[in-house]
Amino acid sequence: MLQDLKLLKNQAVKDIKIVKNLKDLDGLFKKYLGKKGQITLILRSLKNLSKIKRAKIGKAANELKDFLKTELNKKAQNIESKAKKKTKKGEWIDVTLPGKRIKIGHLHPITQARREAENIFQFLGFSVIDGPEIETEWYNFDALNIPKDHPARDLWDTLYLKEGLLLRTHTSPVQIRFMEKNQPPLRIIVPGRTFRYESTDASHEVNFYQIEGLMVDEKGKVTIANYKAIIREFLERFFGKPAQIRLRPGYFPFTVISFEMDVSCPICNQKGCPACENSGWIELMGAGMVHPNVFKHSGLNPQKWQGFAFGMGLERLTMIKHKIKDIRFFYNNDIRFLKQF
Ligand code: FA5
Repeated sequence: MLQDLKLLKNQAVKDIKIVKNLKDLDGLFKKYLGKKGQITLILRSLKNLSKIKRAKIGKAANELKDFLKTELNKKAQNIESKAKKKTKKGEWIDVTLPGKRIKIGHLHPITQARREAENIFQFLGFSVIDGPEIETEWYNFDALNIPKDHPARDLWDTLYLKEGLLLRTHTSPVQIRFMEKNQPPLRIIVPGRTFRYESTDASHEVNFYQIEGLMVDEKGKVTIANYKAIIREFLERFFGKPAQIRLRPGYFPFTVISFEMDVSCPICNQKGCPACENSGWIELMGAGMVHPNVFKHSGLNPQKWQGFAFGMGLERLTMIKHKIKDIRFFYNNDIRFLKQF
């Protein structure tokens, strides 16, 4: 048996010498030291030998095992370093390095906020409705009581397209579109993209999101008190705590008794900063009671129906929640900003 081990060693040394790549080297490892390798089999058969022979041959077989392990390792290093030299600098791939973790993306903070807002409003009994981003002048302006020569058209710096089409400046056109097809009572929100041709600053973007709200029922059933209660509830759920808000008189041609709602600026705690234009308050939404002409243009009788509408800025809502100083962070695509959400 000792003779066998000697022959095995010579054969293995020869094999290792001529092997050229790691795959074949691995084959050799299996041939001699693998589970069914020749040396492994010899070691397993020791139990059948006498005590004296077992000690002698066992020692020689183990020595051969260690020897071959060292030789195989040396050869592996040798093959690797040759391959490295052949490969151009920087091209070498060390397959033994631990892999890089695959980064899993997540929803954009505005998408997250939109979904959260939708969930809350749905819980409050509102349906989520969609509308086109490319609008006609009729739906964006005329039907909302803003005729061509009305000075209120200047409120919305509009991006016009061809043939009387435009990029909607607000989500309010969907009020008309929805009421044309659906009879009150109704409660809807319309989250969507809006566009304005204006210069950007810490609280203004050219492309931003609004959430339109509309609640209509028979005269006397829906009032500003309902609006306040619903919005308070929404904000408390969205922010996780009650919001400090104020209502200011405002003007929108499509509402009577129009107002704007501001939220206390959490970024500067009312000391004044670019996000709140140094006023201590961030304007969150416009709102009011639906104008009779809006009902008329939707084919509804203004004598019968009454309701409130609002349009809030989704980026502003998210800025307030997360104390984000500048609206432009949302669309810079800076991964350091986005991965915080
Ligand atoms: C309107 O767009 C009205 N349609 C809102 C409305 C709906 C009033 C229904 C009455 C009834 P306003 O232009 O104020 O109103 O915009 C509403 C909100 O959108 C603002 O309060 C603000 O939060 C957000 N917003 C307006 N312009 C921008 C902008 N350039 N960038 C980011 N957010 C904006």
